[in-house]
Amino acid sequence: MPNSRPLQPLGRRLGRAARRPATADGELHARVNALEKELRDARVARYTLELLFDSGHDGRKGRMPTKGSVDTLVAQVEAATGERDARPHVVAAFRTLVEVELRGVGRIAGGTPNILGKLTVPPLLDPPNDDVLEIGTLYGLFSAALTRQFARAGRRSSLTIVDPLADVQLQPGTANTADPSGTPVSEAVVRTNLELAGVPADRVRLHRGFSGDPAIRRAVSDRPYGTVIVDGDHSAEGVRADLEWVEEVVAPGGVVVVDDYGDRTWPGVQEAADAHLAGDTAFELVGVASTSAFLRRR
Ligand SMILES: C[S@@+](CC[C@H](N)C(=O)[O-])C[C@H]1O[C@@H](n2cnc3c(N)ncnc32)[C@H](O)[C@@H]1O
Repeated sequence: MPNSRPLQPLGRRLGRAARRPATADGELHARVNALEKELRDARVARYTLELLFDSGHDGRKGRMPTKGSVDTLVAQVEAATGERDARPHVVAAFRTLVEVELRGVGRIAGGTPNILGKLTVPPLLDPPNDDVLEIGTLYGLFSAALTRQFARAGRRSSLTIVDPLADVQLQPGTANTADPSGTPVSEAVVRTNLELAGVPADRVRLHRGFSGDPAIRRAVSDRPYGTVIVDGDHSAEGVRADLEWVEEVVAPGGVVVVDDYGDRTWPGVQEAADAHLAGDTAFELVGVASTSAFLRRR
């Protein structure tokens, strides 16, 4: 690993070296050459980190959050969960996100703070059982990462996943073009990702179809879920229908994640969730972290 000192201090050192009266030209040149080499090595190290975490060239989002965005998220997680010091949990979630996404194919949808919130809050809210329902999985990587996060709390999750797995991401009103990652949205890819993340096949039920399909609902409604992720159809109508149904399948005390709540790209999500919460419902809003809302069933 090349010596990768921070660039700014190195730049200041170069400036100081150039300003200092040289006792001998040779000594000054040697010093400048050494500092130039150090700068080149630092750039190589930084570029390697960018390829791993911030490439932006393969359809994945950068995974190099600012300290400020992590600080904000920590405060939001603490407010949503009552945890006095959520920072270690957020840091552990970051490691999970990076590891699962690097190992897998495709991508986890969304920006880093939002994913960290969705990975940190559900285990801290201590749901009443280990059955997790995810509506809308894309590549299966978020479910895989959440399973890892529950494992950190000593819990062994069982996953039920519903998604049309239609080669591309389906969203009403959007073009439904190929994913920027270049990987097809398919059952084979989801199963591969879950295997790569170490989720045992016998703890996964994959239902290919839409959450509004009565046959899918019948098959999935065979148990009360401790945790439900609502991340499928992002239209107001789609979220409204999902929340109405989820209210029937979530266990008392269960946790519901409403993804992309407050995200300006998907205004229908907050519109439908707010309307649901204002009505006759057993859900209460326990908090918002980044662009996810967390509900608890009374
Ligand atoms: C935003 S992506 C899910 C991202 C994933 N949860 C993650 O964190 O990486 C939405 C997924 O939901 C699927 N979808 C759309 N409408 C759906 C519906 N009615 N029921 C289930 N899945 C749906 C899309 O095709 C897509 O695969």
